[in-house]
Amino acid sequence: MYALSTVCTHLGCTPSWQDGEQKFKCPCHGSGFYKSGINFEGPAPRPLERFRISLGDDGLILVDKSKKFQQEKGEWNNPESFLNV
Ligand code: FES
Repeated sequence: MYALSTVCTHLGCTPSWQDGEQKFKCPCHGSGFYKSGINFEGPAPRPLERFRISLGDDGLILVDKSKKFQQEKGEWNNPESFLNV
């Protein structure tokens, strides 16, 4: 499990999930992102970013939006960027 930032890596618009096409689509210039956050169409130069995610002592999932991880920097390998459930 991971928590994606929905800030487009092109110019910052908000991509939304398209269930029928199984992708995030940016309304501004048409960039598309797979469920993983990887960009595959349009002008976005890189994947969406992921937030720090963890499991609290009470069993709730915590998302820390103050810490982001970028795939192109290899940061998605950081164990704080995903949660094994
Ligand atoms: S801001 Fe998303 S494609 Fe341009």
